[in-house]
Amino acid sequence: MNDDSSARIVAALRAVVADAAPGARLPSTRALVAEHQASPVTVQKALRTLAAQGLVESRPGAGTFVRAVRVVRPADHGWQTAALRASPGLGSPVSSTMRDVPNDVVALQSGYPARELLPERLVRAALARAARADVALSRSPVAGLPELQGWFATELARATPSGVTPPAPADVTVLPGSQSGLSSIFRSLVGAGRPLLVESPTYWGALTAAASAGVRVVPVPSGPEGPAVDDLARAFAETGARAFYAQPSFANPTGARWTATRSLEILAVAREHGAFVVEDDWAHDLGIDAEPTPLAVHDDGGHVVYLRSLTKSVSPSLRVAAVVARGPARERIRNDRAAEAMYVSGVLQAAALDVVTQPAWRTHLRQLRVQLRSRRDLLVTSLREHAPEAHVELVPTGGLNLWVRLPDGTDVDRLVRRCEADGVLLASGREWFPAEPTGPYVRLNFAGPRPEAFAEAAVVLGRALRS
Ligand SMILES: Cc1ncc(COP(=O)(O)O)c(C=O)c1O
Repeated sequence: MNDDSSARIVAALRAVVADAAPGARLPSTRALVAEHQASPVTVQKALRTLAAQGLVESRPGAGTFVRAVRVVRPADHGWQTAALRASPGLGSPVSSTMRDVPNDVVALQSGYPARELLPERLVRAALARAARADVALSRSPVAGLPELQGWFATELARATPSGVTPPAPADVTVLPGSQSGLSSIFRSLVGAGRPLLVESPTYWGALTAAASAGVRVVPVPSGPEGPAVDDLARAFAETGARAFYAQPSFANPTGARWTATRSLEILAVAREHGAFVVEDDWAHDLGIDAEPTPLAVHDDGGHVVYLRSLTKSVSPSLRVAAVVARGPARERIRNDRAAEAMYVSGVLQAAALDVVTQPAWRTHLRQLRVQLRSRRDLLVTSLREHAPEAHVELVPTGGLNLWVRLPDGTDVDRLVRRCEADGVLLASGREWFPAEPTGPYVRLNFAGPRPEAFAEAAVVLGRALRS
């Protein structure tokens, strides 16, 4: 076989293919052998090269044909730049926490728990049952399966103090994950160009949802016990905002938890300004040393719009969450959901409901708490021992993350790259700031895979900080 001849035939046939109509038949191998004075093996090799390049396809017994879809030159999408005009400024909507990573790294950057922390047996059995049930072939109501609406409402009703009317099942709208709920809430309750108060730092996904809805975020500084009430009141007064997005329990990224008194004061400020508090209770099932008490249980006036997700405690693959809202806000959010997605897969809803109503679910949550505690403590101890320059500002009483302040002047992006080269993935704190970062931070997830490598990861971080 002669490589030069094969390349020569490829070049000649490329020219033929470029001028031929899709589906046209190429000359037979015998004709090509004669035309190019080459061996059949060389001709076959040239045809295989063209097939690998997607230019031709061979049909056994029929011959070789010009492919119907041809990529003969790189596609030019430049016209779209003119059609789309300026970018809406979403930045990078896919956070570094959502990257796919190889198995052999220590993945402290992720936002979800490792597989061994999930109720795998319950989830598999629930999916098998859902596949056999009617829901596998029917359309769910727009607001969700009534039994699941009932479960979410009961969860809040159990914690509602006397004198406050708990939400009704009809106030619940089931969502395919709370991320899409944030988008719907920001679109339908705030609206493009309008201000939304947010804690700073706060969940990057809320910031991207706000950006994609065209909502203008206004940061309010938030500490271990939440934002100062005066700061919040001033921000409402100055901006005319009518909504405040917040995580009162085990905030992502800081782990902050509002005190009971602060919660009631913040609710009072929202009432005074005729505003909503969008309460993101993402870590409701992830309490370690404390039980979350949703702010929503103190409100029956429709001021708190409450989001609860099961994606981190049941399974990231069963994307089921809910928003609880009352009055016209409930209708606006529901209409937005219907416009976007119509309804959530009944199979996923039925499976999620099945899991959380099994007696073994409570057992699972108890075990999860023990595992989260031991992983959190292991990572904290490892950092203190091997990377004392990395300061854990608050040992969180729930959630999945440590928020770590680095020495002033640290180039966080460089540090992240350096640790990655040594097999340790961290999330740069920058993604959680609605405006300029107030310091160099990284967020470390203690619920990811391979806790046995936490000490090694802390060594890598400490070395990178000192270098
Ligand atoms: C604070 C917070 N809210 C909402 C979400 C979105 O969760 P999901 O869409 O999986 O329900 C996340 C995910 O990381 C989160 O951390």
